[in-house]
Amino acid sequence: MAWQRVMALADLADGEMRQFPRANGEFLVCRMEDAVYALDNECPHAGGPLAMGNFSPPLIACPWHAWEFDCRTGECVHSAKAKVAQYPTEVRGDELWVDVPEPTANEDA
Ligand code: FES
Repeated sequence: MAWQRVMALADLADGEMRQFPRANGEFLVCRMEDAVYALDNECPHAGGPLAMGNFSPPLIACPWHAWEFDCRTGECVHSAKAKVAQYPTEVRGDELWVDVPEPTANEDA
């Protein structure tokens, strides 16, 4: 894992969700009141881009088949077996940082 500066916290409004690149994929950040969460952007059902879906705090709805995930836990409300990976977030000053996975030795950055 590696901490990555993402954005100014003031640029992420309550109820907003945004997508960012990481090594070998993307992640999303979303804000619910004063809390900020970071999750992988790939839906565990069939790979849909979650950040392209609807965010109605605390639920993120996948744009492909409408499965919903709780941004606070990554858990799917429709299937106990489906869960989106969460990444730690940290606010440093007025900036949002996320601890995202690093590429493995067999993957390109
Ligand atoms: S790919 Fe996300 S619900 Fe099917």
